[in-house]
Order: sequence, then structure tokens, then C-alpha cells
Amino acid sequence: MTDINGERLLANLRTLGAIGGLPDGGVDRLAWSEHDLAGRRWFAERMSEAGIEARVDAALNVFGHLPGTVGPWVLTGSHLDSVPNGGRLDGAYGAVAALEVLRTLAESGDPLAEQLEIVGFADEEGVRFESGLIGSLALTGELDIERLRDGLDWEGVPIRQVLATAGRDLDRMLEAQQHRDSIKAFLELHIEQGPRMEADKIDLAVVTGIVGVHRQRIEIQGTQNHAGTTPFRLRHDAGRAAARAAAELRDLIQGVDAEAVANIGSMRFYPGGINVIPGRAQFTLEVRHLDEPVIGEAVWAFATRLERICAEEGCRVVVELLSSVPPAPMNETVVGALEQACTELGRRPAKLSSGAGHDAGDHFRRAPGPGRPGATPRRPRGRGADKVVAPPWRCCCPTRSTRRSRSRPSIRRRSRSAVAPISWSS
Ligand code: CO
Repeated sequence: MTDINGERLLANLRTLGAIGGLPDGGVDRLAWSEHDLAGRRWFAERMSEAGIEARVDAALNVFGHLPGTVGPWVLTGSHLDSVPNGGRLDGAYGAVAALEVLRTLAESGDPLAEQLEIVGFADEEGVRFESGLIGSLALTGELDIERLRDGLDWEGVPIRQVLATAGRDLDRMLEAQQHRDSIKAFLELHIEQGPRMEADKIDLAVVTGIVGVHRQRIEIQGTQNHAGTTPFRLRHDAGRAAARAAAELRDLIQGVDAEAVANIGSMRFYPGGINVIPGRAQFTLEVRHLDEPVIGEAVWAFATRLERICAEEGCRVVVELLSSVPPAPMNETVVGALEQACTELGRRPAKLSSGAGHDAGDHFRRAPGPGRPGATPRRPRGRGADKVVAPPWRCCCPTRSTRRSRSRPSIRRRSRSAVAPISWSS
């Protein structure tokens, strides 16, 4: 087994972290920004430097594989964009580690290098257009162009204009899917985004799947009235009903499944006067778990309790489904292979579900083609993780053909001149 060049990996992470780097160690490479583009150019340049053929697609994803290889490849990488004031390892770790792995395999003449392609995905975070996974959804052909067509970014700039500054055309974004059938699997290395590994003093984990996410907007309708003249016993207080339900949420969800999580992230009372009993209360509910039936059970448990509370308070409830993303379990064969690889290195990895969404999500599983992939956890804004942790890779296609690679040009004979110049305009 060949070791990667750890110093080179860390040096690359530091250099990428300095692009859009903030004085406190964070990073700001908001998708489609100058810093994001600079990070992508840097990534492509490191590929070219290593004799890897770099290419940027219609969705601004940056790919690289050895010249002369034709795929289908096992794709590995992560996203290069960040949230504003984000963590410097979120996404960057997976992309830079992918580069290091391919480079190491190529340098040691390992034929596996011919079967690997690396990627830095575009706009995974979804901050700019309130719509994430843009690069990987374009690759799998699931990007909803119509939803973006007349949209504005978070500062009111038309999305089309934002894309144009990066040399991209919304109507051509789905050209990215032409590459889909050249990918037989996708593996994503990612830092954990939550506190579990740190709390349990674990630095290595294999991801068993990405949780499903169910989101609702709930409105409770009561009776608006004067807060000074209406005694408690005669109130139909929508605010009180919402607050009671929120206070009971944790116990309810835990009662369904210890691994389930839920959140009420926003709540508003109307009309919102200090001396007015709320006639309406609106809040959001989010439930996550790796098993879809558990999500359904948790949502039902909350709905049942909420109905009872509203009946007691003399209110009524209206529920609007916002979205329901199914869980993306990881291929068990791949989980096993990853565990075995860790064991061979003398390590015993933990197995965790990913509570956050990733490029290696369910859209890869749905994509037609010879392979399908999966993913891992990330850290949204966290700055910690000075220690590079864990390969929580995820993949859905364990198969690998070595037969085709024998007829391909030897990676040792590749030449730098074979690297095609990268085009930043689609
Ligand atoms: Co991430």
C-alpha cells in the first residue's frame, strides 16, 4: 500500500484555505464569487501540475483524470465553495484529498489511477440562490433550471447575471450531464459537521447513509384579542399552542427513536403586538432520520400531539409540506470495503449516519448509468477540525473493472503536454 504525501496534502489545504481566507481562520468562497473562481482555478492548476487532465464543465464543476484514460471512472471529490464565513475544511478536504490520492497512485504507477477521476463540485452550499447541490445535480441531470430561471441571488442580482460573470449560461448547465455515464461510482470524503466524533473522541468513521429530511410549515389559528381585557380562561391563544408544541417536541421525537432529530427553527406570532393575544402562530418543523418510516412516525407523533394541544387551546392547525427528501443509505458492500481498508491500516472506524446533505446524495443513486454513488457529513460553519478526520466515504457502486485498464496507455508514459488546456467559458 502506498502512503499519500501528508505534507503535500496539508500544504494544499492551507493554500486553498488562504483563497478567500479570513483573519480568524475561516474562509469565504461563496459560490460563483471571485474567490470561488480563484479556488477552482487553483484546483485545476494543481491537477495540471501533476499531469492530470483538468476540465471545467457547464456547471462550473472541475474534473480531472489521467490523460488517455476513458472511463467509466470512480469519481471522488467534494465541493470547493463555502458558506459565508465557513469552515476551511468543509468540502475542501474531500477535493484536495482526492487530488492527493490520484497523484499518489499516478506517481507510484498504480493502475488504479486510470480508474479514478476527481472533482471539485460547484455551489453545493446553496446560499447564493437558496438552492444547493447545483453542480452535482447538473451532473446527474436533476438540476431544476426552471426554478432558477427568473430567480435572484441573495443580494437581488439576477441568477443569469451571476452565472454569466463565471462564464456560465443557465440554459446550458445541464450539458454537464453528458458526463454522467462516465461515472460508475462516487466517493466523498468529508469532515464531520456535527459534534459527535469529537465528543466520542473518534477521528475516523464510515458513513452508513445520509438522513432523509422532512420539512413542514405549520400555522396555528386562534383568536386575536386584547391581552389586558381577555382573561386566560377565555383565550384561544395561537402563540401559547405553538409554544407548548415546541416545548414537547424533543421528548416526542426521542420517544419515537433515539437517533431521530427534529428542529423548530423559526416561529412568528401575528400580529405581534405586545398587548395583543396572537391570533396566528407560524413555525417550521424539520425531522431527520436515516429510515423513512421513522421520519413518518415522528412527524405523525408530533402532528397528533399538536392536534390535541390545539383542541385544548381552542385553536385549529394547518400544515403545509415544504419538502421531503428521502434518506440515502450507503451501499453495504462499500461500507464493508471501507471498514476492511481501515482495519488493514490498523484502525477501527466508527459507523455514523450523516445528518447533513451532500453532493453524494440520493440524486446520484437515481441517476441512470452504470454506477451510483453516495456521501458523508460536513461542517457548515465550524472552524474547528484542525485535525483532519476520517474517510466517511460513501458509494453505491462497489464494482470495479480492471480488464479495460490494461489496454489503456500506461500512466507512466503520460506526458505533461497531453494535458488539455482548461476552458473557463462554457
Ligand atoms: Co460540505
